[in-house]
This record gives sequence, structure tokens and C-alpha cells, in this order.
Amino acid sequence: MTTTPTRPVHLGEPDGSPLLAAEELVAGYLPGVNILERCSLRVHRGELVGIIGPNGAGKSTLLKALFGLVTVRSGRVTLDGEDVTNERADSLVRRGVGFVPQNNNVFPGLTIEENLQMGVYQAPKRFAQRFAAVVEIFPDLGERRRQRAGSLSGGERQMVAMARALMMDPSVLLLDEPSAGLSPVRQDETFLRTRKINKAGVSVVIVEQNARRALQICDRAYVLDQGTNAYSGPGRELMDDPKVVELYLGTLAADVEDAAVRAGEA
Ligand SMILES: Nc1ncnc2c1ncn2[C@@H]1O[C@H](COP(=O)(O)OP(=O)(O)OP(=O)(O)O)[C@@H](O)[C@H]1O
Ligand SMILES: [Mg+2]
Repeated sequence: MTTTPTRPVHLGEPDGSPLLAAEELVAGYLPGVNILERCSLRVHRGELVGIIGPNGAGKSTLLKALFGLVTVRSGRVTLDGEDVTNERADSLVRRGVGFVPQNNNVFPGLTIEENLQMGVYQAPKRFAQRFAAVVEIFPDLGERRRQRAGSLSGGERQMVAMARALMMDPSVLLLDEPSAGLSPVRQDETFLRTRKINKAGVSVVIVEQNARRALQICDRAYVLDQGTNAYSGPGRELMDDPKVVELYLGTLAADVEDAAVRAGEA
């Protein structure tokens, strides 16, 4: 693959119009300081799209900009073709966008069931029907519905947060590092659940620190660097791109061992 300034930003995307799109977003927290610099992303119906990139690249900021939690200074966010730039989060939830933030994503003083009730506070009559659907994906949560979320492990809290976002039956789910801080087994569970949710028809955008794993499960992924698009494409293609490997995926464990052996021999 040759690197040219005209390289398309959405390599490998399906035909048709996207469900959710960020077009050339400029956004930031402090006056005069832009974190996103013309950053773009598209998610088509049914897609599982990954966002990877170094710490501080702006991955969380991009999700927050999509969800109305950081002001977009220029550029556009569209949902099903409609302009929803800077629309409030509660309104986006009603329109079918779900968001699971990176941190502080459960109400620790509430039970699991109460946390899930918060997920449908805009439509409380739907609770029973959605609760039944969500505990099919997260059976543990049904069994432990009366337990306080504050007493759960990190992985269990992550499940509550994901389940809460699913309570409104979103068409697109934004997940910010759902596997962070979990053991490898729990991480795998999170990826499997994410796939299951996606296969059930929910489009998913997942920010992931475990870049290799993300590229394995995603249809397509975007690599962000310094607030803008660096690479994009089908996950497997990015994994095989030597430049992406060199810059963003680091050395394979096997290579590290080889290097250690060579260093030992030297
Ligand atoms: N609330 C905030 N106020 C001011 N600056 C912020 C705020 N949140 C993030 N930033 C800055 O925005 C930049 C991008 O942060 P962001 O959290 O989007 O990165 P990230 O790619 O999600 O990183 P990580 O992999 O560490 O989660 C960083 O320089 C960060 O310091
Ligand atoms: Mg982040």
C-alpha cells in the first residue's frame, strides 16, 4: 500500500450511507486548544468498528464528541443522515445511540437492577421487556440483580455499564475501552459479548487498548494519532500493514523473545 496525502479516510467501508458519521470534527475542552483536528469516522449498519491509537490520541474525545459530551467546533456528526452535531446526550439516547464511558460508568450505591432501570429512565415502561432481553446476554446480572454495583469487580461493573447502555435497545453502541483493567480471560469474555451484541444487529464502535485483539474482531478500524486519522481499513489488513505494526502495534511477544535471545547471544 502506498502512502499518499489523498489516501481515503474510510478504507474498506461498505457501500451506502453510514448509520453514524463524524466528518472532519474539530473539538476540544479548553478555549483555543483543539484535541480533535479534522477527525472522521463512519459506522455502517451492522458494522463492528474499532478505534485504536496511542494514549492521548483523542479516542475518548471522539466518542464524547459523537455523544454530545464535548463541544464540536467545526465538522458534522450525522445519525442516519440527520445532522445531530452537538445534540445533547439524552436526546441521542432517545434516537438510539448508547454510550459506555471509559471510567465511572456505574452508580455504585444502586443495585444492578436499579442501574439497569437508570438505562431506561426515559422510557420506564420498557423496563421488564428490555431487562429480560439484556439478561439473556448477561445472565449473571439477572441472578445478582439485588447486589449493589459498588460491591462488584471491575469486569462485573463493565458488564453492568454495557447492559445499562443496551436497555434502550440502541441501534449503535459506543464502547470506550471495555476490556481495560481486566484479566485476559475477562477480556476475552468482553470481546465475545461485544461480538454477540453486534451479531444481534447493534452497530458497535469500540475503542480498545488491546489493539491486536480489536483488529481481530472488528470489521474495520481507525487508527487515530494526535487527534486525527492516521490509518484505516479492514482489521486484518491493518494488522498486516508493516507501517501500522511498526508505529502502533509494537513488537510481537515472539519478536521480543527473539530480541532477548539475540541480546543474550551478543
Ligand atoms: N476533560 C478534559 N479537559 C481537558 N483536556 C482533556 C480532557 N479530557 C481529555 N483531555 C485531553 O485530550 C487529549 C486526548 O485525550 P483522550 O482522553 O481523548 O485520549 P485517548 O486517546 O482516549 O487516551 P487513552 O488511551 O489514554 O484513553 C489528552 O491530551 C487529554 O489530556
Ligand atoms: Mg481514552
